[in-house]
Amino acid sequence: MNYVRPEIAAMQGYVPGEQPRGGKFIKLNTNENPYPCSPAVARAVGAALEGGLQRYPDPMAEAFRIRAAELLGNGVGPDWILCGNGSDDLLTIVTRAFVGQADCLRLPYPSYILYRTLAQLQGAEAEETRFNADWTLGDDFSAPRPKLKLAFLPNPNSPSGTMLPPPRVAELADRLPCPLLIDEAYVDFADSHCTGLVAQNERIMVSRSLSKSYALAGLRFGYLVAQPHVIAELIKMKDSYNCDSLSIAGATAAIDDRAWLAANREKIVASRRRLIDGLRELGFAAVESQANFVWSPHATAPARPLYERLKAERILVRYMDYPGWGDGLRISVGTDEQIDACLAALRRMV
Ligand SMILES: Cc1ncc(COP(=O)(O)O)c(C=O)c1O
Repeated sequence: MNYVRPEIAAMQGYVPGEQPRGGKFIKLNTNENPYPCSPAVARAVGAALEGGLQRYPDPMAEAFRIRAAELLGNGVGPDWILCGNGSDDLLTIVTRAFVGQADCLRLPYPSYILYRTLAQLQGAEAEETRFNADWTLGDDFSAPRPKLKLAFLPNPNSPSGTMLPPPRVAELADRLPCPLLIDEAYVDFADSHCTGLVAQNERIMVSRSLSKSYALAGLRFGYLVAQPHVIAELIKMKDSYNCDSLSIAGATAAIDDRAWLAANREKIVASRRRLIDGLRELGFAAVESQANFVWSPHATAPARPLYERLKAERILVRYMDYPGWGDGLRISVGTDEQIDACLAALRRMV
């Protein structure tokens, strides 16, 4: 197709993790929550459905913003929040707002592969700063350079599940000559977060997802926290109705059920410990994780055959290969039963 912009024709496109539709798989490959969401979500979605879908939704999802602002506290008001069709939608909106043709978008490496795709869509350069071997990030991440317009920092990071402490993030953000988006898709499984930094620095934005910790990957809802004048600019970039009536109702009910979130987090954190310890017993260099997955290279057993053999046993994990860094398995935290099945299969393979 000759009419497509050359940078689009030249790119491969982001490939999401496998979502098998038929058959029964133990699915530990896309960091979904293994438990059903809060029952309050079904009630709220049902009520919204009863109200009818013939009208457009609230373009700003005000009901969600009000509740989210109350929960975030620290002076954050509804006008500090922008809702999105999953947090990927917000990453796209932010990239389109700040990064133009031939600009530069900085990201750490290895990290979330979508960031690179977003730069390519803009015809921009994705400049990677390598993590250190212990998953800390050097000052080169905040070094100035011409045309640097935006930096992404997943915190916790994927695939490592590791985190930079908020004071270190603040330091990097203060030195960076451009806005920094802190991607907190997995932060509810972690010990700290960075929303408190937003008020201190207008260049800091934080994105959150309801896909993982609220078990709502199928609903598609995320939100971004930034200072109100930044949100006002981002609103210009979004689709008018980027969140639908059902997802707004479901997401608002979900964040209101704090008890569900706390109980779910407790189960996932306990199962994460079980997974890390089990993997280490099998000789995997499983990284201590603050997320709902574990990065698990193995000293001697090559990762790809392990992935393939697990798949043959209907256990799906994510095989990741990062050129110049190495490959490994990223295994999502499932239920204890799922983890035990995965560990038992791996025990026969390594
Ligand atoms: C680091 C990171 N950010 C964002 C997302 C996107 O999440 P959402 O489902 O909210 O679009 C993912 C999903 O896997 C992720 O790993």
